[in-house]
Amino acid sequence: MIKEEWKAKGFVDEPVPADVDLKAEIRRMCKEKNAVIMAHYYTEGIIQDVADFIGDSLALAQKAATTDADIIVMCGVHFMGETNKILCPDKLVLVPDLNASCSLAESCPAPAFAEFLKNYPGHTVISYVNTTAAVKALTDVVVTSSNAREIVESFPEDTPIVFGPDRNLGSYINSLTGRNMVLWDGACHVHEKFSVEKILQLKAEHPGAKVLAHPECKGAVKALADKVGSTAALLKFSINDEATEFIVATESGILHEMQKAAPQKTFLPAPPDDSTCACNECNFMRLITLQKLYNTLKYEWPAIEVDAEIAAKAIRPIHKMLEISEKLK
Ligand code: 13P
Ligand code: SF4
Repeated sequence: MIKEEWKAKGFVDEPVPADVDLKAEIRRMCKEKNAVIMAHYYTEGIIQDVADFIGDSLALAQKAATTDADIIVMCGVHFMGETNKILCPDKLVLVPDLNASCSLAESCPAPAFAEFLKNYPGHTVISYVNTTAAVKALTDVVVTSSNAREIVESFPEDTPIVFGPDRNLGSYINSLTGRNMVLWDGACHVHEKFSVEKILQLKAEHPGAKVLAHPECKGAVKALADKVGSTAALLKFSINDEATEFIVATESGILHEMQKAAPQKTFLPAPPDDSTCACNECNFMRLITLQKLYNTLKYEWPAIEVDAEIAAKAIRPIHKMLEISEKLK
């Protein structure tokens, strides 16, 4: 029975008895219920460690499309749960806290985006996966930071394109491809806050360190990076590159997997402008706790629902992305 109080909060707010071994119980319930736990690299290390699968946005969508589990528990933000539900309408898709939003997705409300698109008739609409289902429903093809460049380049050079919602990723792709896509003016509150000055200062203290940056960072941060890429691409680079020190300009949860994969190397989180806040942590991702994950499995709630009409439209650009990505492999 889901209490009204929990519904209002958006998660199961029930204390777990101190003698419960959370990790063991979570794994036991997964087995019993044929549930799979997927986690984004930005979640707490403890969540990544209990998950069946960790990955970037693309890998998580690809995994959801092929899983034979009955329940998907998406330890990430709301749009990731929505993408999974759209891909797997017959499965129960759970997100441990419905408040886990995304500032980038929020920066592009569907009604405003629909109005914006009216100014660009005949344009192909390319949307970053960090969008609501309603924005995906207005889109021709979805991209993630792993495949945005290749997908944009899969269209003839003279194709007029609107790209949303991330202006930083969009302008980066414009600069790489020589395209002139019209950009929606959105951004992520975490990636926008990295400080060029503080990264340069850290680099002066660690001259051998290489700078890794996510494309959602501001142009000036990307300009001083040795590698720009999705979380999966940055992780791979940090493992394979000969450097032993890295300054990481993306959400700091990724450091957990980097450190695990290369324990002999040093990973320094890039500092944000404001040194008084943990701004390089995504407050939405950090809403996913072990206790909420345990309760989500126990109560099989909160479940993600997507309006059927929106889902029917949103599935097309998601499938198109997965098809193009498959061909690009
Ligand atoms: P990835 O595509 O690297 O998973 O990025 C997702 C994200 O939310 C970045 O802020
Ligand atoms: Fe959204 Fe930014 Fe958090 Fe990524 S880091 S989920 S873009 S708010």
